[in-house]
Amino acid sequence: MSDPKAIIEKGGRAPAASPRPPATQPLPPAPDDLPPTVGDGLLEHVAHAVSMAKQRPHTEVPRVPIPGVEQARRDARRRQLTEAWAAQVPPEFIGAKVSVLGRCRAHADGAGPDCTDCADAAAAKAGVERWVAEYAADALNLVVAGPTGSGKTFLGFAAARHAFADGRALRFRPSVELLGELDWRADGARAALEAACSAPVLFVDDLGIERSSDWAQEQWYTIVNRRWMDRLPTIVTTNLDPETTDLRDHLGAGGRTYDRLRDRAVGIWLGGESRRGNHG
Ligand SMILES: Nc1ncnc2c1ncn2[C@@H]1O[C@H](COP(=O)(O)OP(=O)(O)OP(=O)(O)O)[C@@H](O)[C@H]1O
Ligand SMILES: [Mg+2]
Ligand SMILES: [Zn+2]
Repeated sequence: MSDPKAIIEKGGRAPAASPRPPATQPLPPAPDDLPPTVGDGLLEHVAHAVSMAKQRPHTEVPRVPIPGVEQARRDARRRQLTEAWAAQVPPEFIGAKVSVLGRCRAHADGAGPDCTDCADAAAAKAGVERWVAEYAADALNLVVAGPTGSGKTFLGFAAARHAFADGRALRFRPSVELLGELDWRADGARAALEAACSAPVLFVDDLGIERSSDWAQEQWYTIVNRRWMDRLPTIVTTNLDPETTDLRDHLGAGGRTYDRLRDRAVGIWLGGESRRGNHG
């Protein structure tokens, strides 16, 4: 008799006279309370489902928000952001956010009558809100001026926090430290200049307390001009008065740097006594 395997390979049918012995014994019938097993035709069922799915045109399954899951996702994202922000910001300013602005130190808890300092604080808050709403579309700069302790740095961080939540990395540098990084004797001076020019948000704190020099003015011109051309927002705090020519003169370059900084800028003047120390 011919080999049945050879007949199958040629496309014929295996003779009924030589069936292969079953490899395993048939499984006993499953009790009703157990899930179906392979022996109950599950494989055939899956194969059928797959072939039906292949025949159907591809359809997008609409994403139905599941309330609890969506909330948990939002909470997790908020937690992640808060942790990432805390890793960037000096501890003194971790609590800086727009919602706590708008009152003077004496009326910070919302109690008591408004005063002229509260009015200044409310105007400053409105300025930050405007920057937050418009900085991305219009590449706004934020220039915060005022006397020592008036809350300039705090306010700058409150604004930067929003940009950070929008996914814009922050580069915060007090002006003296920034210039120190750019000194050609410092390691990585070139990379530091490039980083200052291209940071999604650059925050230069206390512009004006560093000594002015031709070299420093060239650095400010390079940074402010590059960022202005590339439409990248810059936050600056200063205690030089922008209503006089002090800031303009400090930045030099025949007024070019100041002109680019104030172009598309929200300017905030913070008054009031210092928020530091014990005023009780
Ligand atoms: N709106 C506010 N609510 C609560 N605390 C604030 C607020 N503004 C500022 N502070 C706190 O007041 C202190 C002074 O604020 P900040 O350092 O921002 O002042 P500054 O104007 O930058 O001062 P300087 O010119 O000396 O750098 C800080 O301890 C800061 O955390
Ligand atoms: Mg400050
Ligand atoms: Zn007040």
